Amino acid sequence: MRSEAIAHPNIALIKYWGNRDNDLRIPANGSISLTLGGLENRMSVRFEEGSNADALIINGEASGPDMLGRASRHLDFMRREAGVEAGARMESVTNFPLGAGIASSAAAYAALTVAAASALGLELDQQTLSRIARRGSGSATRSIYGGFVEMMAGDTDQSSYAQQIAPADHWQILDLIVLLDENVKHTGSTAGHALAASSPLQEARVADAPRRLQACRKAILDRDFESLAHIVERDCDMMHAIMMTSEPPLHFWSGDTLQIMAAVRDLRAQGAAVCYTIDAGPNVHCLCLPESENDALRALTENGKRTWKVLRAHPGPAARVV
Ligand code: PMV
Repeated sequence: MRSEAIAHPNIALIKYWGNRDNDLRIPANGSISLTLGGLENRMSVRFEEGSNADALIINGEASGPDMLGRASRHLDFMRREAGVEAGARMESVTNFPLGAGIASSAAAYAALTVAAASALGLELDQQTLSRIARRGSGSATRSIYGGFVEMMAGDTDQSSYAQQIAPADHWQILDLIVLLDENVKHTGSTAGHALAASSPLQEARVADAPRRLQACRKAILDRDFESLAHIVERDCDMMHAIMMTSEPPLHFWSGDTLQIMAAVRDLRAQGAAVCYTIDAGPNVHCLCLPESENDALRALTENGKRTWKVLRAHPGPAARVV
């Protein structure tokens, strides 16, 4: 009983932060993302009869008890569905840095869900896979699909899942990810979500989410970059306002982050189709149209005294068995 799957991370264009239900990871608000082709997590899962322990190997190294425990709990749910008790060996290989705000858990839990379902012989549609992936990591719900994806927050396990808004070939938006810090971030998103409600601003951000989702959905369907840029930057700044005003506060931005945000805004003011967004880490995702890629790269690498490593991603496909 072995299967292997590939899944891609995604970058949230409209972000979720804070859960309505932390155990089921039902988010406080809906979200929209772009699945990132070019970056991938390849996960193999082998259920071994006679073994009752799980093992998790990430990029050749056995992972610690916290990560293994979380992955095992995810498998427990799937094992119950399949009536299987065997332990599993999970092996994951990624081509991008982990835990640094590049949605590594999204790709990992989407790949784990798809590989484990296949190894267990569960024939599940994408909506069901996305609901299951959500239990592992909220953003993994979206990585089940390719292209432009919306996650409906829902309020129960059944109603909280994702669906595709438009396929990957609908609009060639590139994501230039400026790696300011490849180290593992100081507060993981699971702990971060639990703090969101302590910010007095969170209620207003959640109440305004339907407006932002609608603006983003429309900008994607109309391929209207200027409108997309506007709503994506607002939404990112709003999420970080929650983070900075929670108890205790979370400050993910560094001086370099702010410098790049300013460079991107300047570039757009000069006519380039580029905007920024930032997840729960200091790295900046610069979304751009292909015609602005060279200008964006130049501004990102010539800006300031240092040059930073830049990862390049493009609209990518759904999670799949390989
Ligand atoms: O899926 P998690 O628990 O890693 O949380 C993701 C949170 C953000 O990346 C900051 C926003 C999002 O919607 O992806």
